[in-house]
Amino acid sequence: MDNLLELKNVTKIYEGGVLANHNISFSVREGEIHALVGENGAGKSTLMKILYGMESITSGQIFLRGKEVKFSSSKDAIAHGIGMVHQHFMLVDSFTGAENLMLGYSGARFFSNKKADIEETNAVAKKYGFVIDARRRVRDMGVSMKQKLEIMKILYRGSKIIILDEPTAVLTPQETEELFERLIELKKSGMTIIFISHKLNEVKRISDRITVLKSGKTMGTYNTADISEEDISNLMVGRVISFEYDKTPLVSGKELLRTEHLKYKDMFGVIKLNDLSLSLHEKEIVGIAGVEGNGQNELVEIITANLRALSGKVFYKGEDITDKSIGDVRRRGIASIPEDRMFNGCAGNMSISENIIAADISTFEDKNKLLNKNRIKNYSKELIKKFEVKTKDENQMIKSLSGGNIQKAIVAREFSTSSDLLILNQPTRGIDIGSISFIHHKILEMRDAGKGILLVSSDLNELIALADRILVMYKGRIVASMDNKTKVNEQELGLYMLGIKDQGEAV
Ligand SMILES: Nc1ncnc2c1ncn2[C@@H]1O[C@H](COP(=O)(O)OP(=O)(O)OP(=O)(O)O)[C@@H](O)[C@H]1O
Ligand SMILES: [Mg+2]
Repeated sequence: MDNLLELKNVTKIYEGGVLANHNISFSVREGEIHALVGENGAGKSTLMKILYGMESITSGQIFLRGKEVKFSSSKDAIAHGIGMVHQHFMLVDSFTGAENLMLGYSGARFFSNKKADIEETNAVAKKYGFVIDARRRVRDMGVSMKQKLEIMKILYRGSKIIILDEPTAVLTPQETEELFERLIELKKSGMTIIFISHKLNEVKRISDRITVLKSGKTMGTYNTADISEEDISNLMVGRVISFEYDKTPLVSGKELLRTEHLKYKDMFGVIKLNDLSLSLHEKEIVGIAGVEGNGQNELVEIITANLRALSGKVFYKGEDITDKSIGDVRRRGIASIPEDRMFNGCAGNMSISENIIAADISTFEDKNKLLNKNRIKNYSKELIKKFEVKTKDENQMIKSLSGGNIQKAIVAREFSTSSDLLILNQPTRGIDIGSISFIHHKILEMRDAGKGILLVSSDLNELIALADRILVMYKGRIVASMDNKTKVNEQELGLYMLGIKDQGEAV
């Protein structure tokens, strides 16, 4: 196969002096799936944004079919057949699927024609085997549908080189399977795909070759068949990471959280929570498993007061908190990591420091109610260090951190409050293997220190590694409660998740 694309000595220094890419050279062959891996902040997204014309190159060259190209914007890259799906989606929330597909498309009709746009969108979906609802507004779509729409947008514009920045971070195992099937189809039809992921087993499965980045430099390109997961891990973080932990036996304490008969219907009238009751104690990690969209997010949102249940109650330490505000719930001692960290996890235009103290500003006020700047600075520095957030300093705007480092900053904030209960919704999504292991240890430490943890995760290995009990949600109900003392069987878990098995009244 020929080199379709070649990057030579690419260096990127961001304003402010961050050296994100240092002399990176690598090539991509026509028709291959080329994986790009590396720890958080290694420079993967930056390199791809340069290739996509979104970030300027500080020095170096890009060759497409042997010819040097210079892109001054994504428009140039798109014109050369390069498309990118970003780590954080870039769709217009208030627009429908069809409107998003047409947006900015040069071949769009002069007069808008909704019906024709919807038909066109459905035709594109059909052509590439995607199932999406063209009429639905993006804000009402789940992540998987949003992602399909993003990929369709690229294909619709005729891209032949598709860059996917952590496409599976937000998908369930089933959705990942589906995406991989699509990618293999696209590869067969002659597309070239660059695929970024932290999940090494996926990278092993889907890619032909792998390039490893570390601290802005390349550690080489390898044939996937010739390199093991352990080898990749070693190249990325300098050691082999294991997710086997020695857990102390469960000695759960007093009840912290209880939900009683929660019911919730979404705006389409779909029942998202159907008489859901659960209880969680001190020193206990309760895992929630389920295919996305079975009510997990609604449950979390209701407990944290971001959403109101139709009926049912939430109790924290015996007190009814069903109708309390978000602030009240936090002040009572419930910390949380939301699923969508860019949307409601942080304030992008504020510094890391401001984001870190946002959880509990009052503790940084002195007697005169003035913020104690020194204390804030020291506290931020301490957390940045402890949680290994890769940043220039505490004043860096949070949105200019790498994806995984934004997540680490939010984790640092939420794990450092005095809360007794933590609601974690996909806490390690988009985080590199080294940092996942670090965060897992922190979660276990907090459990041992007496906190209670509700862990919602689409990563079954994560649930099995950490949870004391795993509850499986299916269509808004808990269909199974599994003791995870001796690790539960993943296959069986899958049967409950798909609704094939159900413990019924026994739960
Ligand atoms: N707009 C920006 N301004 C300044 N620094 C930036 C900007 N964007 C990224 N960086 C820095 O560049 C480095 C590389 O970031 P990049 O987003 O490319 O990492 P990544 O490999 O994609 O990591 P992740 O796995 O966390 O997504 C990081 O140190 C990051 O803080
Ligand atoms: Mg990235």
